Parts: sequence; C-alpha cells; structure tokens
Amino acid sequence: MEKIIDEKKQGEALLLNKSDKNKRKLFIESYGCQMNFSDSEVVASIMASEGFNTTNKLEEADLVLVNTCSIRDKAEQTVRKRLEKYNAVKQSHNKNMKVGVLGCMAERLKDKFLEEEKIVDLVVGPDAYKDLPNLIKEVDAGRDAVNVILSRDETYADVSPVRLQSNGVSAFVTITRGCDNMCTFCVVPFTRGRERSRDPQSIIEEIDDLVTKNFKEITLLGQNVDSYLWYGGGLKKDFEKASDMQKATATDFAKLLDMVAIKYPKLRLRFTTSNPQDMTMAVIDVMSKHSNICKYIHLPIQSGSDRILKEMNRQHTREQYMELITNIKKRMPECAISQDIIVGFPTETEQDHKDTLSMMEFVQYEYGFMFAYSERPGTMAARKMEDDVPQEIKKRRLSEIIDLQQKHSGERLEKFIGQTVEILIEKESKRSKEQWSGRTTQNAVAVFPKENYKVGDFVNVKIDSCTSATLIGHAVDYSENN
Ligand code: 5AD
Ligand code: SF4
Repeated sequence: MEKIIDEKKQGEALLLNKSDKNKRKLFIESYGCQMNFSDSEVVASIMASEGFNTTNKLEEADLVLVNTCSIRDKAEQTVRKRLEKYNAVKQSHNKNMKVGVLGCMAERLKDKFLEEEKIVDLVVGPDAYKDLPNLIKEVDAGRDAVNVILSRDETYADVSPVRLQSNGVSAFVTITRGCDNMCTFCVVPFTRGRERSRDPQSIIEEIDDLVTKNFKEITLLGQNVDSYLWYGGGLKKDFEKASDMQKATATDFAKLLDMVAIKYPKLRLRFTTSNPQDMTMAVIDVMSKHSNICKYIHLPIQSGSDRILKEMNRQHTREQYMELITNIKKRMPECAISQDIIVGFPTETEQDHKDTLSMMEFVQYEYGFMFAYSERPGTMAARKMEDDVPQEIKKRRLSEIIDLQQKHSGERLEKFIGQTVEILIEKESKRSKEQWSGRTTQNAVAVFPKENYKVGDFVNVKIDSCTSATLIGHAVDYSENN
C-alpha cells in the first residue's frame, strides 16, 4: 500500500557540488508516493558514483530522470505533460540532453515508452537502478536503453541514499519493497513486483548514519510495512519452507519496530503504510510501549462495504477492521488514524457508498486520501469488471466523503485547543517568516512564533487556535527531548 503525496511535481534535486564543473549534471524529480521519493535518493547515490552532480535547474541538465507513478491515469498524464516540458527545454537549451523514465510507468509501459514518447532515451524499472551505469553507457553511445527486470531480492540495502531536498530533520528508510496483496484495482504488484524485506542490520546502519547526521525523525517505509519479515533473505511467501533456525531467529515488524525504538530513544519513529489484515496486536503493543513511536497510523480502508472489499480482494471484512480500530483506541486513545478511500469501484451502489460513510463516522479519521476509481490496465478489476459507475456519480460520492473527512479533521484539530503538545520543528511556516512549522506525534501540523528555537528542536507548544488544517500556538518551554 502506498500513500500518494500528490500527482504533481514534488521537488527537484539539490546542487551537491557547484565547484566541480567537469561533472555532468543530473536533474531528477519524483511523482507519486514516498517510495518514489526515497528511490530517487538511491538513484542519486548511484549516479553520483558515475560522476553526475545533481542540479535543481532543468535548463542546465545533461541528464533528466523522472521517477513516475502509475497508480491512477491522472498521475500518468502529469508525467506525459512533464515530458513535453523536457522536450521544449532540450530544444531551447541543450540538444544533447538525455531523458530517462524511472519507476512505475517505466515498468508498466516498458519499451513502448520509447515508441510513444520520442523524447525518452532510457527506461528503467524500480528494481533495475543498479544497472543505470551500464544503461547510461548505452545512451552515451547513441542507443536507447531499457531495463525493467523485476527482482525477488533487490532491496538496495547496500546503497547509501543521497538525501535530496531534505530538511535535515526527517528522512525515509525503506524496509520492504513490492507488494503481494493483489488488490484488484491496484497496479503496484505489477510495477513493483514481489514483496521482499530488507536485512535489519542494513536498516540499523542507515538509521545510525542518519542519527550521526543529526536527523530527528525517521519513517520506516514500505507498501505494506506490517508484513515485514526477515529470516535471512527470501520472499515472505517462502517462509514456510525456512529452516527451524531461520524461523526461530526471524524478525517481524513488531520486533523491528521494538528494536529501533529501544536503540534510538531520542529519535521519533513513524511508519507507513499499514495493511489492516497484517497489523498485529504485537505491533500495537510495541507502539503503545514506546513514547518515541508516533501515535499515528495510516490504515487504508478503501471501502466500508463488505461486498466491495471482497471485490477489491482486500483480505479483511468491515467487522475485522472495526475490531482493529477498537483495539488501537483501547491501547492508545490518543492515536490518530488516517484512511485511503476509493469511490466508484465497479458495481458500487448507493448502499455501498453509505457503508463507507458510516465507517468514516465510526472511525472519525484524522486525515484522509480520497480518490475516484481509475481503471488501470492489466489489473484484475480492469480484466474482469466493467468501470460502470458514471463519472458524475463518482464525483458526487467523492465530494461527499471529502466533505465528511473535512468535518472530522476539523473536529479532531479543535480538540487540541488548550492542550500542550510536543512539536518537532521541521521548517519555516509557509505563511510567515516569523513562525516555525512542525508536527505533533499524531502528525498534525502546528505553527508558532520562532523565538530562539531552531529547526530540529522538540518544543512544547500550547495550542491557542486552529485553521481547517493547522494548529496555531506558542512555545511554552523546551521539552525533555532536547
Ligand atoms: N484508482 C483509484 N485509486 C487507487 N488507489 C490505488 N489504485 C487505485 C485506482 N486504480 C488508491 C488506493 C491506495 C492509494 C495509494 O491509491 O486508495 O491505497
Ligand atoms: Fe496497497 Fe493493495 Fe496496491 Fe498492495 S495491491 S500497493 S496493498 S493497494
């Protein structure tokens, strides 16, 4: 499962070394989920050892790499528009500029990309980034290059990511890649391959490095983090065949989380994304035991209707999801929960839609990421079901769930008024140069006057008021965490 940031450009790379004029310049940008942003950091690292410095100016790039998203049709259209822009810059600035597509669209379209988009010289799928040095040589020799081979074991555990666009405070650490769930609407299992977990030792080494560099918050990242399982390598589905020794010493997500929380008591820990059927009581216990694990869970529901959940091949019922929520709230009443919801999945009736709304009323989600169903070629839903909910109905249902979510989000924020909460300062507020912006453990954004605090400080902030999405307060003192 992925949390989509947005299908719009989210950032370009930073200039690493302005003085080295002999090196070639790489402009890399990412669309879609956090996994793509994290992968681009791996790619920047691989390209740095090939003599590429990253630049944030498209016009001066020798090589442009775009990390793409296929989750909905709109995401793909956004990338196609971007390719037109690269073409214009190539014509006006540097006729030798090369363009490569990475990520899910590369994997989905493979060499068809070269036919459909003349600007593209290079197509590389999410498991083939280590082959980039060879592929670039091909491109340099004037040939198009494609590698979209999916892997059963690639986790890039041995690549130390270059932190692009980092605020120096929070970073992502990938712990699993791929997804085995086969939700019928989702293209991810086809574009990112089988689920595999990364060696815990290499996870710890990456976190060690981040702590040395003074990072204060890490997010453990995967399509389905709760399904993390390390038993010396190998796919999760082959665990049954593992030796007794491997089974006895295996690390699951609860163990990994516990280990990281104990080893780094001053580091804030987050994780995303959770799948309801894989989230165990052991994970909830570990979360409740450690104050440095943030009390926030992204727990997509997709639909509140049992019939639709079944058609989606989600591995749980409405009842089981509600039970999980009840357990979470029992152990951690303050825990925030967010959702992903799809409206207008094939055959969705008005009653199914009402079931989704009533699920929202039950959970009272703090945040939500809501989408109209977009048929993706090759998925089970596209092959077996007709996209039969009319566009206007999808639109109306989407606006109904968005309205309800906004109401709940607002009510949730208002509850903070009068409370003192711990904020990790991440950056200057967009609205005011005099204010810092950071987040609570529940992932609520808060702004407050800067005073003498600095980015990376943990500050106790008393909340005085809020807008629809932001808490507004003032610092009361330094917290114990400093
Ligand atoms: N149409 C609409 N939304 C989708 N998502 C995944 N596939 C589709 C699709 N075909 C949503 C799901 C998922 C999130 C990352 O994107 O809600 O959890
Ligand atoms: Fe998430 Fe299901 Fe897609 Fe896997 S198949 S990424 S669990 S929506």
